[in-house]
Amino acid sequence: MSKLPGNAGVSVLGDKSLEFYRDPVSFCQQRIEKHRSRVFQCRVLNRPTAFICSVQGMREILCEKSNMFLKDPTDLMTNMYGDTVVTTNGEEACLLRLSLSSLFTGSCLKSSNDYITSVCERCLKDLSLSGGPQCAYSAFKRLGTELVLGLFLNVRAEEQPELFQEIMQLCTQHWHGLISAPVNVKVPLWSSGFSTALDARDKLMDIIKDKLENDTQGFVGSLGSLPLPDSSSASQHLLLFISALIPKALASLLTSFTLALSGNQQTRQRAMEEPDYLRLVLLEVQRLWPPFIGGRRIADKDSTLAGFHVPKDYGAIYISHSVHRDPEVFQQPDDFLPERWSGRNAGQEHFLCSFGNGARGCIGTKLNDVFLKEACMYLLKHYDWCLDPPSQDLEYKWLPVSRPANPPTIAFTQLDLKTSDSSDNG
Ligand code: HEM
Repeated sequence: MSKLPGNAGVSVLGDKSLEFYRDPVSFCQQRIEKHRSRVFQCRVLNRPTAFICSVQGMREILCEKSNMFLKDPTDLMTNMYGDTVVTTNGEEACLLRLSLSSLFTGSCLKSSNDYITSVCERCLKDLSLSGGPQCAYSAFKRLGTELVLGLFLNVRAEEQPELFQEIMQLCTQHWHGLISAPVNVKVPLWSSGFSTALDARDKLMDIIKDKLENDTQGFVGSLGSLPLPDSSSASQHLLLFISALIPKALASLLTSFTLALSGNQQTRQRAMEEPDYLRLVLLEVQRLWPPFIGGRRIADKDSTLAGFHVPKDYGAIYISHSVHRDPEVFQQPDDFLPERWSGRNAGQEHFLCSFGNGARGCIGTKLNDVFLKEACMYLLKHYDWCLDPPSQDLEYKWLPVSRPANPPTIAFTQLDLKTSDSSDNG
Protein backbone atom coordinates (compact mmCIF):
# COMPACT_ATOMS: atom_id res chain seq x y z
CA MET A 1 0.00 0.00 0.00
CA SER A 2 1.62 3.32 -1.07
CA LYS A 3 1.65 6.67 0.65
CA LEU A 4 -0.46 9.36 -1.03
CA PRO A 5 1.76 11.45 -3.37
CA GLY A 6 2.28 15.07 -2.31
CA ASN A 7 2.25 16.34 1.22
CA ALA A 8 -0.37 17.60 3.62
CA GLY A 9 1.74 20.51 4.92
CA VAL A 10 1.64 21.97 8.41
CA SER A 11 -1.51 23.20 10.09
CA VAL A 12 -2.82 26.62 8.87
CA LEU A 13 0.39 27.75 7.11
CA GLY A 14 0.37 24.75 4.78
CA ASP A 15 -3.28 25.23 3.88
CA LYS A 16 -4.02 25.45 0.14
CA SER A 17 -7.75 26.23 0.30
CA LEU A 18 -7.46 29.69 -1.25
CA GLU A 19 -5.34 28.43 -4.11
CA PHE A 20 -7.84 25.63 -4.70
CA TYR A 21 -10.91 27.90 -4.61
CA ARG A 22 -9.30 30.43 -6.95
CA ASP A 23 -8.85 27.91 -9.78
CA PRO A 24 -9.65 24.31 -8.83
CA VAL A 25 -9.03 22.92 -12.30
CA SER A 26 -5.49 24.29 -12.65
CA PHE A 27 -4.82 23.37 -9.04
CA CYS A 28 -5.55 19.72 -9.77
CA GLN A 29 -3.98 19.68 -13.23
CA GLN A 30 -0.66 21.01 -11.92
CA ARG A 31 -0.52 18.41 -9.16
CA ILE A 32 -1.60 15.54 -11.42
CA GLU A 33 1.35 16.42 -13.67
CA LYS A 34 3.79 17.03 -10.82
CA HIS A 35 3.01 13.77 -8.99
CA ARG A 36 2.21 11.81 -12.17
CA SER A 37 -0.80 10.54 -10.29
CA ARG A 38 -4.53 11.34 -10.42
CA VAL A 39 -4.76 10.75 -6.67
CA PHE A 40 -2.65 12.96 -4.38
CA GLN A 41 -2.80 14.83 -1.09
CA CYS A 42 -2.89 18.47 0.00
CA ARG A 43 -4.15 20.44 2.96
CA VAL A 44 -7.54 22.11 2.42
CA LEU A 45 -9.99 23.50 4.98
CA ASN A 46 -6.97 22.96 7.23
CA ARG A 47 -7.29 19.19 6.98
CA PRO A 48 -5.00 16.74 5.15
CA THR A 49 -7.07 15.77 2.14
CA ALA A 50 -6.89 13.13 -0.57
CA PHE A 51 -7.79 14.50 -4.01
CA ILE A 52 -9.46 11.98 -6.28
CA CYS A 53 -9.16 12.73 -10.00
CA SER A 54 -9.43 9.22 -11.47
CA VAL A 55 -12.48 7.15 -12.40
CA GLN A 56 -11.24 4.24 -10.29
CA GLY A 57 -10.76 6.47 -7.22
CA MET A 58 -14.19 8.05 -7.70
CA ARG A 59 -15.88 4.66 -7.92
CA GLU A 60 -14.17 3.57 -4.70
CA ILE A 61 -14.99 6.65 -2.64
CA LEU A 62 -18.60 6.97 -3.85
CA CYS A 63 -19.58 3.35 -4.38
CA GLU A 64 -17.45 0.49 -3.10
CA LYS A 65 -16.14 2.25 0.04
CA SER A 66 -18.92 4.77 0.61
CA ASN A 67 -19.47 3.41 4.14
CA MET A 68 -15.91 4.44 5.07
CA PHE A 69 -16.01 7.95 3.58
CA LEU A 70 -18.72 9.96 5.29
CA LYS A 71 -20.39 13.32 4.80
CA ASP A 72 -19.10 16.08 7.07
CA PRO A 73 -21.92 17.14 9.43
CA THR A 74 -20.10 20.44 10.13
CA ASP A 75 -20.13 21.36 6.44
CA LEU A 76 -21.13 24.94 5.53
CA MET A 77 -24.27 23.43 3.94
CA THR A 78 -25.52 22.57 7.46
CA ASN A 79 -24.97 26.15 8.56
CA MET A 80 -27.09 27.50 5.73
CA TYR A 81 -29.69 24.81 5.17
CA GLY A 82 -29.92 23.18 8.60
CA ASP A 83 -30.05 19.40 9.05
CA THR A 84 -30.84 17.87 5.69
CA VAL A 85 -30.05 14.59 4.00
CA VAL A 86 -27.00 16.24 2.37
CA THR A 87 -24.96 16.26 5.58
CA THR A 88 -26.30 13.22 7.46
CA ASN A 89 -24.88 9.71 7.50
CA GLY A 90 -25.79 6.11 8.18
CA GLU A 91 -29.30 4.89 8.81
CA GLU A 92 -30.72 8.40 9.15
CA ALA A 93 -29.51 9.29 5.66
CA CYS A 94 -30.87 6.01 4.26
CA LEU A 95 -34.33 6.62 5.68
CA LEU A 96 -34.41 10.23 4.54
CA ARG A 97 -33.36 9.26 1.02
CA LEU A 98 -36.01 6.58 0.95
CA SER A 99 -38.72 9.07 1.92
CA LEU A 100 -37.57 11.95 -0.28
CA SER A 101 -36.80 9.87 -3.36
CA SER A 102 -40.48 9.05 -3.73
CA LEU A 103 -41.07 12.72 -4.60
CA PHE A 104 -38.69 12.56 -7.55
CA THR A 105 -39.75 9.29 -9.14
CA GLY A 106 -42.81 7.40 -10.36
CA SER A 107 -46.19 9.10 -10.28
CA CYS A 108 -44.89 12.25 -8.49
CA LEU A 109 -42.40 12.82 -11.28
CA LYS A 110 -45.02 12.07 -13.94
CA SER A 111 -47.36 14.66 -12.47
CA SER A 112 -44.62 17.29 -13.02
CA ASN A 113 -44.42 16.67 -16.77
CA ASP A 114 -47.05 19.19 -17.86
CA TYR A 115 -45.59 21.92 -15.70
CA ILE A 116 -42.08 21.24 -17.04
CA THR A 117 -43.38 21.52 -20.63
CA SER A 118 -45.26 24.74 -19.93
CA VAL A 119 -42.41 26.42 -18.06
CA CYS A 120 -39.93 25.59 -20.84
CA GLU A 121 -42.26 27.10 -23.40
CA ARG A 122 -42.97 30.24 -21.39
CA CYS A 123 -39.31 30.98 -20.61
CA LEU A 124 -37.79 30.01 -23.95
CA LYS A 125 -40.35 31.29 -26.45
CA ASP A 126 -39.01 34.85 -26.58
CA LEU A 127 -35.29 34.20 -27.03
CA SER A 128 -35.34 35.65 -30.56
CA LEU A 129 -37.85 38.41 -29.87
CA SER A 130 -35.43 41.29 -29.35
CA GLY A 131 -33.66 40.41 -32.61
CA GLY A 132 -30.33 40.87 -30.81
CA PRO A 133 -27.98 38.56 -28.91
CA GLN A 134 -29.09 37.22 -25.52
CA CYS A 135 -27.29 36.39 -22.33
CA ALA A 136 -28.33 32.75 -22.47
CA TYR A 137 -27.17 31.94 -18.93
CA SER A 138 -29.53 34.54 -17.39
CA ALA A 139 -32.48 33.28 -19.43
CA PHE A 140 -31.73 29.69 -18.38
CA LYS A 141 -31.34 30.64 -14.72
CA ARG A 142 -34.74 32.30 -14.83
CA LEU A 143 -36.14 29.11 -16.37
CA GLY A 144 -34.53 27.00 -13.62
CA THR A 145 -35.94 29.31 -10.95
CA GLU A 146 -39.46 29.17 -12.42
CA LEU A 147 -39.14 25.40 -12.51
CA VAL A 148 -38.14 24.93 -8.87
CA LEU A 149 -40.44 27.57 -7.34
CA GLY A 150 -43.43 26.38 -9.37
CA LEU A 151 -42.76 22.69 -8.82
CA PHE A 152 -41.64 22.65 -5.19
CA LEU A 153 -43.54 25.59 -3.73
CA ASN A 154 -46.60 26.01 -6.00
CA VAL A 155 -45.50 29.61 -6.67
CA ARG A 156 -45.87 30.35 -10.38
CA ALA A 157 -44.34 33.49 -11.84
CA GLU A 158 -47.31 34.25 -14.07
CA GLU A 159 -49.87 33.82 -11.28
CA GLN A 160 -48.10 35.48 -8.32
CA PRO A 161 -45.40 37.71 -9.83
CA GLU A 162 -44.71 39.69 -6.63
CA LEU A 163 -44.38 36.67 -4.36
CA PHE A 164 -42.26 34.97 -7.01
CA GLN A 165 -39.95 37.99 -7.21
CA GLU A 166 -39.67 38.23 -3.43
CA ILE A 167 -38.75 34.56 -3.03
CA MET A 168 -36.26 34.75 -5.90
CA GLN A 169 -34.50 37.70 -4.25
CA LEU A 170 -34.44 35.99 -0.86
CA CYS A 171 -32.97 32.83 -2.43
CA THR A 172 -30.23 34.92 -4.06
CA GLN A 173 -29.39 36.66 -0.76
CA HIS A 174 -29.38 33.32 1.02
CA TRP A 175 -27.09 31.88 -1.63
CA HIS A 176 -24.64 34.78 -1.42
CA GLY A 177 -24.28 33.97 2.27
CA LEU A 178 -23.30 30.43 1.44
CA ILE A 179 -20.42 31.62 -0.70
CA SER A 180 -19.39 34.54 1.54
CA ALA A 181 -17.24 34.07 4.63
CA PRO A 182 -19.40 32.84 7.52
CA VAL A 183 -18.91 35.91 9.68
CA ASN A 184 -22.14 36.84 11.33
CA VAL A 185 -21.46 40.53 11.88
CA LYS A 186 -24.27 43.02 12.02
CA VAL A 187 -23.99 46.68 12.89
CA PRO A 188 -26.55 49.44 12.18
CA LEU A 189 -26.78 50.30 8.46
CA TRP A 190 -24.34 47.56 7.52
CA SER A 191 -24.48 43.83 7.68
CA SER A 192 -22.13 41.25 6.28
CA GLY A 193 -23.30 39.00 3.47
CA PHE A 194 -23.60 36.11 5.86
CA SER A 195 -25.83 37.95 8.25
CA THR A 196 -28.05 39.17 5.38
CA ALA A 197 -28.19 35.56 4.27
CA LEU A 198 -29.39 34.39 7.67
CA ASP A 199 -32.13 37.04 7.62
CA ALA A 200 -33.13 35.89 4.14
CA ARG A 201 -33.21 32.30 5.38
CA ASP A 202 -35.58 33.24 8.22
CA LYS A 203 -37.94 35.00 5.81
CA LEU A 204 -37.83 32.06 3.39
CA MET A 205 -38.59 29.69 6.27
CA ASP A 206 -41.70 31.72 7.16
CA ILE A 207 -42.97 31.46 3.58
CA ILE A 208 -42.15 27.75 3.44
CA LYS A 209 -43.89 26.95 6.73
CA ASP A 210 -46.96 28.82 5.61
CA LYS A 211 -47.03 26.77 2.40
CA LEU A 212 -46.54 23.50 4.29
CA GLU A 213 -49.44 24.34 6.58
CA ASN A 214 -51.87 25.53 3.93
CA ASP A 215 -51.11 23.83 0.59
CA THR A 216 -52.31 20.28 0.22
CA GLN A 217 -51.53 20.05 -3.49
CA GLY A 218 -48.39 19.09 -5.41
CA PHE A 219 -44.92 18.63 -4.03
CA VAL A 220 -45.49 20.71 -0.85
CA GLY A 221 -48.57 18.65 -0.08
CA SER A 222 -46.75 15.34 -0.64
CA LEU A 223 -43.72 16.48 1.37
CA GLY A 224 -45.97 17.49 4.28
CA SER A 225 -47.38 13.97 4.47
CA LEU A 226 -44.06 12.07 4.22
CA PRO A 227 -42.65 10.20 7.22
CA LEU A 228 -39.75 12.47 8.25
CA PRO A 229 -37.62 12.43 11.44
CA ASP A 230 -38.89 15.67 13.02
CA SER A 231 -41.22 18.61 12.53
CA SER A 232 -38.59 20.90 10.96
CA SER A 233 -37.33 18.34 8.44
CA ALA A 234 -39.87 19.12 5.70
CA SER A 235 -39.18 22.87 5.84
CA GLN A 236 -35.38 22.43 5.94
CA HIS A 237 -35.54 20.22 2.86
CA LEU A 238 -37.83 22.61 1.01
CA LEU A 239 -35.33 25.37 1.73
CA LEU A 240 -32.65 23.18 0.14
CA PHE A 241 -34.77 22.28 -2.89
CA ILE A 242 -35.67 25.88 -3.71
CA SER A 243 -32.13 27.14 -3.14
CA ALA A 244 -30.38 29.09 -5.89
CA LEU A 245 -28.03 26.14 -6.26
CA ILE A 246 -30.36 24.08 -8.43
CA PRO A 247 -31.37 26.78 -10.99
CA LYS A 248 -27.69 27.66 -11.31
CA ALA A 249 -26.72 24.04 -11.96
CA LEU A 250 -29.51 23.64 -14.53
CA ALA A 251 -28.51 26.93 -16.21
CA SER A 252 -24.89 25.76 -16.24
CA LEU A 253 -25.78 22.58 -18.17
CA LEU A 254 -28.13 24.39 -20.57
CA THR A 255 -25.48 27.04 -21.27
CA SER A 256 -22.83 24.40 -21.93
CA PHE A 257 -25.24 22.53 -24.20
CA THR A 258 -26.03 25.72 -26.14
CA LEU A 259 -22.35 26.58 -26.52
CA ALA A 260 -21.32 23.06 -27.54
CA LEU A 261 -23.90 23.07 -30.33
CA SER A 262 -23.64 26.72 -31.30
CA GLY A 263 -23.06 27.12 -35.01
CA ASN A 264 -23.15 23.32 -35.38
CA GLN A 265 -26.30 22.94 -37.45
CA GLN A 266 -25.70 19.30 -38.37
CA THR A 267 -25.35 18.10 -34.77
CA ARG A 268 -28.43 20.10 -33.78
CA GLN A 269 -30.49 18.61 -36.58
CA ARG A 270 -29.44 15.09 -35.61
CA ALA A 271 -30.09 15.70 -31.90
CA MET A 272 -33.57 16.97 -32.76
CA GLU A 273 -34.43 13.99 -34.95
CA GLU A 274 -32.90 11.23 -32.83
CA PRO A 275 -33.73 11.33 -29.10
CA ASP A 276 -30.99 8.79 -28.46
CA TYR A 277 -28.41 11.06 -30.06
CA LEU A 278 -29.60 13.93 -27.83
CA ARG A 279 -28.95 11.60 -24.88
CA LEU A 280 -25.35 11.11 -26.06
CA VAL A 281 -24.89 14.86 -26.51
CA LEU A 282 -26.16 15.54 -22.98
CA LEU A 283 -23.83 12.89 -21.53
CA GLU A 284 -20.91 14.54 -23.27
CA VAL A 285 -22.00 17.99 -22.06
CA GLN A 286 -22.09 16.84 -18.43
CA ARG A 287 -18.79 15.00 -18.85
CA LEU A 288 -16.91 18.09 -20.04
CA TRP A 289 -18.71 20.76 -18.03
CA PRO A 290 -20.08 19.29 -14.77
CA PRO A 291 -21.93 22.08 -12.86
CA PHE A 292 -20.37 21.20 -9.50
CA ILE A 293 -16.66 20.68 -9.00
CA GLY A 294 -17.23 17.57 -6.87
CA GLY A 295 -17.97 16.51 -3.33
CA ARG A 296 -16.18 16.09 -0.03
CA ARG A 297 -16.06 13.28 2.53
CA ILE A 298 -14.15 12.44 5.73
CA ALA A 299 -12.41 9.07 6.21
CA ASP A 300 -14.16 7.30 9.08
CA LYS A 301 -11.34 4.77 9.43
CA ASP A 302 -7.98 3.93 7.85
CA SER A 303 -8.63 2.93 4.27
CA THR A 304 -7.24 2.98 0.75
CA LEU A 305 -8.23 4.79 -2.43
CA ALA A 306 -6.84 3.66 -5.78
CA GLY A 307 -4.16 1.73 -3.87
CA PHE A 308 -3.03 4.66 -1.69
CA HIS A 309 -3.30 4.66 2.09
CA VAL A 310 -5.85 7.21 3.39
CA PRO A 311 -5.61 7.62 7.19
CA LYS A 312 -8.69 8.03 9.41
CA ASP A 313 -9.89 11.64 9.66
CA TYR A 314 -8.37 12.63 6.34
CA GLY A 315 -10.65 14.63 4.07
CA ALA A 316 -11.27 13.21 0.59
CA ILE A 317 -12.54 15.24 -2.37
CA TYR A 318 -13.57 13.85 -5.74
CA ILE A 319 -13.08 16.34 -8.56
CA SER A 320 -15.68 15.66 -11.23
CA HIS A 321 -13.94 17.78 -13.87
CA SER A 322 -10.72 15.72 -13.54
CA VAL A 323 -12.47 12.35 -13.11
CA HIS A 324 -14.36 13.00 -16.35
CA ARG A 325 -11.12 13.66 -18.21
CA ASP A 326 -9.30 10.57 -16.95
CA PRO A 327 -7.53 9.37 -20.13
CA GLU A 328 -7.59 5.75 -18.91
CA VAL A 329 -11.34 5.73 -19.57
CA PHE A 330 -12.02 8.67 -21.90
CA GLN A 331 -9.82 8.81 -24.99
CA GLN A 332 -9.21 12.32 -26.35
CA PRO A 333 -10.57 13.47 -22.99
CA ASP A 334 -10.78 17.18 -23.82
CA ASP A 335 -12.71 16.74 -27.08
CA PHE A 336 -16.49 16.99 -27.43
CA LEU A 337 -17.33 13.59 -28.96
CA PRO A 338 -20.94 12.51 -28.24
CA GLU A 339 -20.36 9.37 -30.32
CA ARG A 340 -18.01 7.99 -27.66
CA TRP A 341 -21.16 7.11 -25.65
CA SER A 342 -22.40 4.76 -28.36
CA GLY A 343 -18.90 3.41 -29.08
CA ARG A 344 -15.99 2.87 -26.74
CA ASN A 345 -17.76 4.32 -23.69
CA ALA A 346 -21.20 2.78 -24.35
CA GLY A 347 -22.83 1.70 -21.08
CA GLN A 348 -20.24 3.59 -19.00
CA GLU A 349 -22.48 6.38 -17.71
CA HIS A 350 -21.65 5.16 -14.20
CA PHE A 351 -18.11 6.49 -14.73
CA LEU A 352 -19.52 10.02 -14.55
CA CYS A 353 -20.08 11.89 -11.30
CA SER A 354 -21.76 15.18 -12.31
CA PHE A 355 -24.68 14.06 -10.15
CA GLY A 356 -22.52 12.26 -7.61
CA ASN A 357 -22.63 8.47 -7.74
CA GLY A 358 -23.50 5.41 -5.66
CA ALA A 359 -25.53 5.40 -2.47
CA ARG A 360 -25.34 9.19 -2.02
CA GLY A 361 -25.91 10.24 -5.61
CA CYS A 362 -28.29 13.08 -6.50
CA ILE A 363 -31.94 12.30 -5.73
CA GLY A 364 -33.08 14.76 -8.42
CA THR A 365 -31.39 12.96 -11.33
CA LYS A 366 -34.58 11.73 -13.00
CA LEU A 367 -36.25 15.12 -12.68
CA ASN A 368 -33.13 16.79 -14.12
CA ASP A 369 -33.15 14.33 -16.97
CA VAL A 370 -36.78 15.02 -17.90
CA PHE A 371 -36.29 18.78 -17.57
CA LEU A 372 -33.04 18.97 -19.56
CA LYS A 373 -34.41 16.87 -22.41
CA GLU A 374 -37.54 19.01 -22.58
CA ALA A 375 -35.62 22.32 -22.51
CA CYS A 376 -33.01 21.16 -25.05
CA MET A 377 -35.66 19.74 -27.37
CA TYR A 378 -37.54 23.04 -27.23
CA LEU A 379 -34.38 24.92 -28.22
CA LEU A 380 -33.55 22.46 -31.00
CA LYS A 381 -37.07 22.53 -32.46
CA HIS A 382 -37.49 26.30 -32.38
CA TYR A 383 -34.10 27.88 -32.90
CA ASP A 384 -30.98 28.15 -34.89
CA TRP A 385 -28.27 29.77 -32.79
CA CYS A 386 -24.71 31.04 -32.90
CA LEU A 387 -22.33 33.12 -30.80
CA ASP A 388 -22.85 36.83 -31.37
CA PRO A 389 -20.26 38.32 -31.59
CA PRO A 390 -18.65 35.17 -33.04
CA SER A 391 -15.44 35.56 -31.07
CA GLN A 392 -15.90 35.59 -27.27
CA ASP A 393 -13.81 34.58 -24.29
CA LEU A 394 -15.42 31.30 -23.24
CA GLU A 395 -12.99 30.43 -20.45
CA TYR A 396 -14.90 28.65 -17.67
CA LYS A 397 -14.92 29.41 -13.99
CA TRP A 398 -15.62 26.30 -11.94
CA LEU A 399 -16.77 27.61 -8.60
CA PRO A 400 -19.26 27.91 -7.09
CA VAL A 401 -21.12 26.57 -10.17
CA SER A 402 -19.39 26.14 -13.53
CA ARG A 403 -20.05 28.53 -16.41
CA PRO A 404 -18.02 30.79 -18.72
CA ALA A 405 -16.63 33.56 -16.46
CA ASN A 406 -17.95 36.17 -18.92
CA PRO A 407 -21.51 35.08 -19.69
CA PRO A 408 -21.62 34.49 -23.46
CA THR A 409 -24.13 36.23 -25.70
CA ILE A 410 -25.96 34.14 -28.28
CA ALA A 411 -28.16 35.10 -31.22
CA PHE A 412 -31.23 32.87 -31.52
CA THR A 413 -33.17 32.78 -34.80
CA GLN A 414 -36.67 31.29 -34.85
CA LEU A 415 -36.56 28.22 -37.10
CA ASP A 416 -40.06 28.47 -38.60
CA LEU A 417 -39.59 32.21 -39.22
CA LYS A 418 -36.33 31.49 -40.99
CA THR A 419 -38.04 28.97 -43.25
CA SER A 420 -40.84 31.38 -44.19
CA ASP A 421 -38.31 34.21 -44.66
CA SER A 422 -36.33 32.13 -47.13
CA SER A 423 -39.47 31.01 -49.00
CA ASP A 424 -40.61 34.65 -49.18
CA ASN A 425 -37.25 35.57 -50.63
CA GLY A 426 -37.41 32.71 -53.07
C1 HEM B 1 -28.40 20.13 -12.71
C2 HEM B 1 -28.92 19.92 -11.52
C3 HEM B 1 -28.24 19.14 -10.41
C4 HEM B 1 -26.94 18.75 -10.27
C5 HEM B 1 -25.76 18.99 -11.21
C6 HEM B 1 -26.84 18.01 -9.02
C7 HEM B 1 -25.68 17.44 -8.55
C8 HEM B 1 -25.57 16.73 -7.37
C9 HEM B 1 -24.36 16.11 -6.89
C10 HEM B 1 -22.99 16.17 -7.56
C11 HEM B 1 -24.66 15.48 -5.72
C12 HEM B 1 -23.70 14.65 -4.87
C13 HEM B 1 -22.90 15.48 -3.90
C14 HEM B 1 -21.85 14.68 -3.17
O1 HEM B 1 -21.40 13.62 -3.64
O2 HEM B 1 -21.42 15.12 -2.09
C15 HEM B 1 -26.05 15.74 -5.45
C16 HEM B 1 -26.71 15.31 -4.35
C17 HEM B 1 -27.99 15.68 -4.07
N1 HEM B 1 -28.88 16.31 -4.90
FE1 HEM B 1 -28.51 17.06 -6.70
N2 HEM B 1 -28.07 17.99 -8.44
C18 HEM B 1 -28.94 18.66 -9.26
C19 HEM B 1 -30.30 18.84 -9.07
C20 HEM B 1 -30.97 18.41 -7.97
C21 HEM B 1 -32.39 18.53 -7.76
C22 HEM B 1 -33.40 19.12 -8.77
C23 HEM B 1 -32.64 18.05 -6.51
C24 HEM B 1 -33.95 17.95 -5.80
C25 HEM B 1 -34.74 18.94 -5.63
C26 HEM B 1 -31.38 17.60 -5.95
C27 HEM B 1 -31.23 17.05 -4.70
C28 HEM B 1 -30.06 16.48 -4.22
C29 HEM B 1 -29.94 15.94 -2.88
C30 HEM B 1 -31.00 15.92 -1.79
C31 HEM B 1 -28.63 15.43 -2.78
C32 HEM B 1 -27.99 14.78 -1.56
C33 HEM B 1 -28.17 13.28 -1.60
C34 HEM B 1 -27.47 12.63 -0.42
O3 HEM B 1 -26.61 13.23 0.22
O4 HEM B 1 -27.80 11.47 -0.13
N3 HEM B 1 -30.39 17.82 -6.86
N4 HEM B 1 -26.60 16.48 -6.49
